[in-house]
Amino acid sequence: MSRFWTGCAAILALVIGISIHGAAPASAQGSVEVMHWWTSGGEAAALEVLKDDLESKGVTWNDAPVAGGGGEQAMTVLRARVTGGNPPTAVQALGFSITDWAELDVVANLNEVADAEGWDDVIPDALQSFSKYDGKWIAAPVNVHSTNWVWINKSALDAAGGRAPTTWDELVSVLDRMKSNGIIPLGHGGQAWQDATIFDAVVLSLGDDFYKSALIDLDPGALSGAKMREAFDRMEVLRGYVDDNFSGRDWNLASALVIEGEAGMQMMGDWAKGEFLKAGQVPGEDFVCIRFPGTQGSVTFNSDQFVMFEVGEESRPAQLLMASAIENPVFQSAFNVVKGSVPARTDVPDTDFDDCGKKGMKDLAEANRGGSLFGSMAHGHAVPPAVQGAIYDVVTQHFNREISSAEAVESLASAVSAVR
Ligand code: BGC
Repeated sequence: MSRFWTGCAAILALVIGISIHGAAPASAQGSVEVMHWWTSGGEAAALEVLKDDLESKGVTWNDAPVAGGGGEQAMTVLRARVTGGNPPTAVQALGFSITDWAELDVVANLNEVADAEGWDDVIPDALQSFSKYDGKWIAAPVNVHSTNWVWINKSALDAAGGRAPTTWDELVSVLDRMKSNGIIPLGHGGQAWQDATIFDAVVLSLGDDFYKSALIDLDPGALSGAKMREAFDRMEVLRGYVDDNFSGRDWNLASALVIEGEAGMQMMGDWAKGEFLKAGQVPGEDFVCIRFPGTQGSVTFNSDQFVMFEVGEESRPAQLLMASAIENPVFQSAFNVVKGSVPARTDVPDTDFDDCGKKGMKDLAEANRGGSLFGSMAHGHAVPPAVQGAIYDVVTQHFNREISSAEAVESLASAVSAVR
């Protein structure tokens, strides 16, 4: 029997098994150990959708959370697990780090499910380039997030003139007004990945071509030129609007400041929306979502994927069931409505999404058509982890005022070339 038919037979057997026995008892289909960094309120609520879905299919969920936004800590724990010969069944991972695992030949082959379900036709190429390696599907994409968003407290915006900023100058004047109104203008957490998330948006606000040549092509001229100087100058301006206690703060606590009106806005990927929703807030009424001023029409994206590891025959049925469940269009809608992201498939309707989600889906499709969709540097979709780490270091030292804009520009190109 060909691989394809073996796969179909396996899936059919699972489906029949479930329908004959009705609600399958827990564990009837085996178990999955799932490593992830979804530990904030909004993230946990979204994860619950996946967990419940799998448990309803008879798969036991063994949770392996590793807290730490952006996933750096999770990747460290994962390295130790894989090196010790004991990888989890499925691991949340981003972009180039998925490719790194594939190169080590420790990942599973999901083709039997992917072929049977036609993933090739419904998952955008920008995601497939990370979900597939050497013609093999190795990861199941859950979503598409984008990083060039600003989340604004609606009352704070009203008090600051009521108009969402569309340009850099307007942004600065709204931040100034929030400052004179006595709140923290910019809710932020001083962690390298959060600084880098803002840097993504700032670089993009200086032009699509600049973002591409600096952060994707790593062109030394772009990394060390006048525009990069301007990007660091803008970062310095933004640094002037964070509070004294920003250092080390987790991103969801920065979201909480905005939710509670203690801060005016947060510049963060759309996982932040999950926190606003979890707090019972409604877009347009309690908070406003805008693209980072100057980046309208363009999108920097990242996609959470569950990369599946080679874990032996016994765990394989549950692993395949998990991969299949993730790509189910109904699940894609239900999960992403809660997570703040948008579906990883192009054929999921936007009906159940709120206004920010609908905008997210529309922006993504338009940016993709118009050639202005770029992988996020901060979230692993522009450059390999070593280069990303080198950029993080310079951006974060600069944000912490350890080096000037001139020094940051001077060291960026050499820091990048040292690790390439
Ligand atoms: C992930 C999101 C996650 C965020 C904060 C990002 O890298 O893609 O799913 O919510 O980090 O933890």
